[in-house]
Amino acid sequence: MKLIDSFGRKIDYLRISITDHCNLKCYYCTPFSGRSHLERSEILTYEELLNVARAAASSGITKIRVTGGEPLVRKGVVEFCRMLSEIDGLKSLALTTNGVYLGEMAEPLFKAGVRRINISLDTLKPERFEKITGYDWLPRVLAGIRRAEQIGMHPIKINTVVMRGINDDEIEDLARLTREKPYHVRFIELMPTDSSAYGDYKSLYMPVEEIMKKINKIDRAQIGPATDSYGPAKLCKLPGARGKVGFIAPISWHFCGSCNRLRLTAEGKIKTCLFSQEEIDIKTALRSGATQMELINIFQRAVSEKPRRHHLNEKKHQIACRQAMRAIGG
Ligand code: 5AD
Repeated sequence: MKLIDSFGRKIDYLRISITDHCNLKCYYCTPFSGRSHLERSEILTYEELLNVARAAASSGITKIRVTGGEPLVRKGVVEFCRMLSEIDGLKSLALTTNGVYLGEMAEPLFKAGVRRINISLDTLKPERFEKITGYDWLPRVLAGIRRAEQIGMHPIKINTVVMRGINDDEIEDLARLTREKPYHVRFIELMPTDSSAYGDYKSLYMPVEEIMKKINKIDRAQIGPATDSYGPAKLCKLPGARGKVGFIAPISWHFCGSCNRLRLTAEGKIKTCLFSQEEIDIKTALRSGATQMELINIFQRAVSEKPRRHHLNEKKHQIACRQAMRAIGG
């Protein structure tokens, strides 16, 4: 079965947020409004999540990414990943993490079938890490990244949200990591979400063109236009580098035309676009004993309602997403 939306896009990628809890308090991801956390009973159980994942795989989803919040804070995540990786039809299982628990968990996760990993890392300076995240855990995160590499996870993608005046002076250093390491270091434009950074959004936002200019100056390396595309990221290589440098520019370049994804929130709602308020409830169906076929129908309906694109560019500097990422899984 295939999921094709009303604009001809093939939808084969589902991001599952398993918790809205996180062990960091990143400045741009801490909501300033609304309630802070879901009640335990509001969050889908692993069994429910697996039912959704099976229905998704039968509908045409071939790739699942486990996110949060911070997925590694939820007990039982390794076993959950193992069960996900056994679902027929799924070709790829990935996980997004802040890396704090990766040192201990990389190996069990690998054994459970997780190969692809994204790690959020906005700075290489310990004090700055503490300022941005609220905790002095940079060494843990760096050790976690090394461990993931050692254990054979691939690709290892490092996501850096660039904020003017906060970490834009580290763009070059972060990019240089790719010389020695096979990582993809991807610079992300700050998005206007419901967060404590929102008040300063205009001054913090740095457009991707400016980020690219800085990288072009590294040792006079002309990286030229992005050569390679990998999902929403455009990828380039520094001369002689093992890894790649990527750019994700949800504001400057919208990549909606090639969007292939759906999201499932921890609360059991399907989101068809990060920037849309529309959500399709699947929890009620799950909790009233829906059959697999009924769940598949919900997926098909969600896909048919997927909007053509977001309109961030036109309505710049509005809160684009009324939830912080931790609620929906960045
Ligand atoms: N803008 C851009 N990226 C964000 N993330 C969280 N909030 C924002 C935002 N406002 C990123 C995190 C992480 C991913 C899950 O989402 O840095 O890499």
